[in-house]
Amino acid sequence: MRYYELLQNPDQSFVKEQLNILLADDHPEVLEELRREADQVRQRWVGDAVHVRGIIEFSNYCIRSCHYCGLNRSNTRLQRYRIPPEEIVEIAREAVAMGFKTIVLQSGDDFYYTREMIADIVREIKATGAAVTLSVGERPAEDYRAWREAGADRYLLKFETSDPDLYKQLHPGTSLAIRLRCLRDLRELGYQVGSGFMIGLPGQTGEVLARDLLLLRSLEPEMAGIGPFIPHPATPLSRDPAGDVTLSLKVLALSRLLLPWAHLPATTALSSLEKDGRRLGLTGGANVVMPNITPPKYRRLYEIYPHKAEVKDSPHELYRATLELIRELGREVAGDPGHGLSAEKRSSLYKEESFYDRNQLYQ
Ligand code: 5AD
Repeated sequence: MRYYELLQNPDQSFVKEQLNILLADDHPEVLEELRREADQVRQRWVGDAVHVRGIIEFSNYCIRSCHYCGLNRSNTRLQRYRIPPEEIVEIAREAVAMGFKTIVLQSGDDFYYTREMIADIVREIKATGAAVTLSVGERPAEDYRAWREAGADRYLLKFETSDPDLYKQLHPGTSLAIRLRCLRDLRELGYQVGSGFMIGLPGQTGEVLARDLLLLRSLEPEMAGIGPFIPHPATPLSRDPAGDVTLSLKVLALSRLLLPWAHLPATTALSSLEKDGRRLGLTGGANVVMPNITPPKYRRLYEIYPHKAEVKDSPHELYRATLELIRELGREVAGDPGHGLSAEKRSSLYKEESFYDRNQLYQ
């Protein structure tokens, strides 16, 4: 486990140097070795179980104008929708009956759904016994608190890029500092936190990518979503090239080696660029898949990028295909909700790997 050991070195600047070298090295053998180690580390730390989370994209309204995203508010060509709360809960109930153990609620930054509305939705879905993950963007800490009190277990909020200038350029009117403050609020409220970034954003150099990975590690997230950027025609980045699939797989493997404890999905963005993306993700560090359980009539309108995978199939069909893939890979479908690894489990796994003094790294 040569690369794993290198990347677990407590010296940050050494790790950064290694990341720069690895990211710049295009030899296929390097990628293969990183993927092999990532697969071993995944197995040792989070096992063979694949967590299947059902995602409901409940509103494509958004007050923001992120330069990469098709939901940005200046996209007047997009037909907008909001799923009424009762219908969201009904979709979730059906998914739980199908076997889903986590429901992910995602939307644009849409303040139509008030603190109380989302708290009510969370309470009703929690009553089914499923875990609830929210991904509804930047909101006041008081909203996050109310939802946590209503029972929400997890929150996904990617930082998208670690470069403050690039962040400002891509997200008019907001800043990386605000995003990081939200992540801190979520952490303090006791959420299991998910974050991540995109690969291949215009202006993202190898150096930025290395810093993205280091920022991700410093957040110690329970989950991390890492996927390629895909240009959308109704955005300022319409003419920029998509992120590279091979580089995305390399960064996914590196993420596993840096964050051995984390739940890492094989992202939809990766499957959208590469038909075998899910399989490649799951065999190179990932242990989570998130089939889309939004009713198809809404789903095609949640166009954060074009040609999104899974726009047509019914939730049942997607669920079945997902289970089949997991079995084909010789893995199993997780029977538990897939919460973040406990601090005790992390430290005992680290203790067994005695190549460094972990106390220096993770306090
Ligand atoms: N390409 C790839 N991923 C995108 N996202 C948004 N727009 C795009 C795009 N054009 C991702 C962001 C966001 C998540 C919901 O979707 O990382 O956090």
